[in-house]
Amino acid sequence: MGHNVEVIKVAPHLGAEIRGVDLSRALSDEEFAAVHDAVMENEVVVFHDQKINAEQQIAFGKRFGELSVHPFSPNQEDTPELIIFDNNEDNPPFGTDRWHSDETFRAEPPLGTMLSAKVIPAYGGNTIFASMTAAYDALSETMQNFLDDLEAIHDMVLFRKLFGGGEDGLATMRKYEEQYPNPVHPVVRIHPVTGKKALFVNPQFTIRIKNMREDESRTLLDFLFRQAAIPEIQYRHQWKADSFVFWDNRSTQHYAPHDYFPQRRYLERITIKGDRPFGPAGPTYFLQDNPETSAAGSADEFGGHRASIRPIDREKDI
Ligand SMILES: [Fe+2]
Repeated sequence: MGHNVEVIKVAPHLGAEIRGVDLSRALSDEEFAAVHDAVMENEVVVFHDQKINAEQQIAFGKRFGELSVHPFSPNQEDTPELIIFDNNEDNPPFGTDRWHSDETFRAEPPLGTMLSAKVIPAYGGNTIFASMTAAYDALSETMQNFLDDLEAIHDMVLFRKLFGGGEDGLATMRKYEEQYPNPVHPVVRIHPVTGKKALFVNPQFTIRIKNMREDESRTLLDFLFRQAAIPEIQYRHQWKADSFVFWDNRSTQHYAPHDYFPQRRYLERITIKGDRPFGPAGPTYFLQDNPETSAAGSADEFGGHRASIRPIDREKDI
């Protein structure tokens, strides 16, 4: 059996439009393989004219793996995997106007994210994607070699604002901190399917380069954060109603300007679970407050935290 899947590149380094697929029904194995390959090769794929409901989106997402539930987004009771972004005058967009890959404060950030567009503003509200593979490739070999050995600490920074300053809010935040201790991810991530290297630090969630002084870490992070903003490695997606986009969260970053506010923009999102990032230097570690072993790390080394590193225990930590 053949298939009619067509893949048309829309930007030099990432982004392709996929035609010949109806996401409202189950894809054949051949169709799925073609779509999967297109995602691996192009990092972001776009489908148009896909009138699909949440159930159909969830079914398509599950072809790529188990779905994840976002700890800080309001979830639907019967479909906790579904996040609804219904932004309008009364519900301004929150925190998407900064370069990031999704949920890197988790030990296992998502493999990818899918958005289905329902209501699109007359202007504005695009999503800009950057290939962090291209960002890495554009660096000098000297810089690449230097970065290959580094690891960075990630944190739920943005979401801390949601807890408020009161005692209850702080107590809830502590609970989340225990559940999501700061992970250490490689600065250069190796894609588990393509084997390509990508820059894996982002201004939304990366707070510190490990084993560097604060001023060194800040200077280097500022430089690395600027790489996503280079227009040549980007694809800017202009949404239409019934457009559907799937991005590989391991090798891309995105930025969604809030420039459409107060117009309405309504998208439905699902997220696919990912694996633990690894880089050229090997496995990553958790950084966790642990008074019993805190002597192992100096406060200065870890940005003022009393901290120690220990390998991830999959049973307990994930
Ligand atoms: Fe995002």
